Amino acid sequence: MKSASDWVVEYFDKLKDLPVTPNVRPGELFHQLEKDCPTEGLDIQTILEEFDQKIIPYVGHWNHPGFMAYFNSTASEPAIIAELLMAAMNSNTMNWKSSPAGSELEKLTIQWINKALGLEHEGVIFDGGSTTNFHAILCIRHYFFGAELKNSGLQRSIAPIPRFYLSDQCHHSVHKAILAAGFSYDSIIEIETDDNFAMDSSLLRQQIIDDEANSQFAPAAVIATLGSTSSCAIDPIEEILKVIKNENRNLWLHIDAAHGGMAAMHPAVRKKYKGWEQADSLTVNPHKWMFVSLDTSILFFRDKKNIKEAFSYSASYLQTDEDEQVDNYMDFGIPLGRRFKSLKLYFTMKYFGKFGLIDKIDQHLQLGADVYQFLDSEEGFELMAPLNLSTVCFRVIPHTSKITIDEYNLKFMNLLNKTGRFFLTHTKLNGKVVIRIVISSIFHTQKVITNLKEELVLIKNQMYNEYNSQKHSQTMP
Ligand SMILES: Cc1ncc(COP(=O)(O)O)c(C=O)c1O
Repeated sequence: MKSASDWVVEYFDKLKDLPVTPNVRPGELFHQLEKDCPTEGLDIQTILEEFDQKIIPYVGHWNHPGFMAYFNSTASEPAIIAELLMAAMNSNTMNWKSSPAGSELEKLTIQWINKALGLEHEGVIFDGGSTTNFHAILCIRHYFFGAELKNSGLQRSIAPIPRFYLSDQCHHSVHKAILAAGFSYDSIIEIETDDNFAMDSSLLRQQIIDDEANSQFAPAAVIATLGSTSSCAIDPIEEILKVIKNENRNLWLHIDAAHGGMAAMHPAVRKKYKGWEQADSLTVNPHKWMFVSLDTSILFFRDKKNIKEAFSYSASYLQTDEDEQVDNYMDFGIPLGRRFKSLKLYFTMKYFGKFGLIDKIDQHLQLGADVYQFLDSEEGFELMAPLNLSTVCFRVIPHTSKITIDEYNLKFMNLLNKTGRFFLTHTKLNGKVVIRIVISSIFHTQKVITNLKEELVLIKNQMYNEYNSQKHSQTMP
């Protein structure tokens, strides 16, 4: 009988030959599957066989070497093993008593990551960057309105209107979090970015000064990003700190480093984040760039009293004799049931070691620079953002007026994705469609990047020929 671990080994052996994303239609899988749960149970072997035949052809493989879309989360071997053990133990880390190892490994791995990143914060593990950003916004809300809000709730209209300043490249989960926390659109102030897509700190300063002069508004927090979703832009933390601290403002600084955070293990990256250690809170996702499987994100915070006040609510059945001596992680956020996710961090960090992880990040930075230089020198491509970390933003230059540049680029990307060998996604920068190449998977090697470069040229020439066939050209001039 094939075990689950046999399945995993075979999967990784054949993964590179599977299409990275399936070429299927919406609803196709759903219609093939039984509409009622089987009345009698089946054996695991039958379930696994059906899974292989029916479900695998519809899976998007984020661990595939050609997956360079979004911010990818490679699940490395130690993380997969830890995941299996976690499921087997099913240990709930809601409080210390319910799983002493769960609580203590969470504290320890957060300490390890703090040291690796040059931070000195406390922390708590959530599922993803969006949830983590939401908890950060709720911490900020508690900091400014805590007791008052708890007593009179959202019935009381908050006046003056708190203002959250974020760049126009900030991840939409922050906007969502601000609205979900009960604030209005008037609380979300987007600050324009510079040529590097980083927040313009002089515009930030001016906006805050203007708001301070207006009795309707109360500046509350700056949400900076290190590694923006579109182009990995890096907001100028030191400049932002000058606006906050040098001028004695009582503003909270939250940094969304969901993708870029773990890369700060690398000294060259850490240099770019100077000042981030002074943030009041940070979002960092090991599931994005530390080879830990979904879903593992950390909220780093400074003010433990604040977060505990924001989220703890006593229920007598959860009280234990050890409460005074321990951190009960259920008190640091909304979830009560919490998976033993620190085990994935523990296994992964022990397996690679700090230097091993830095090596991987270094490789990604180098591969990113390689693709960037290639697209810079290769005729027919145009770079659309500076290379900040290892994400490359580019587009193809069409030699036709039959379709718009944006349409041409979307078509280029779709043709590339249809090969099943690579999966790229697009974004918009300065209103233009731009294609992104994200390099941050342990399966991104020089060979994969060489294949990608060949494929980019092939599709570029194929499209050139399609639109310029009357000129009988084989390749671009
Ligand atoms: C900068 C940034 N913040 C937050 C998120 C949301 O993270 P998650 O997908 O883990 O919710 C993302 C996702 O890509 C991101 O790029």
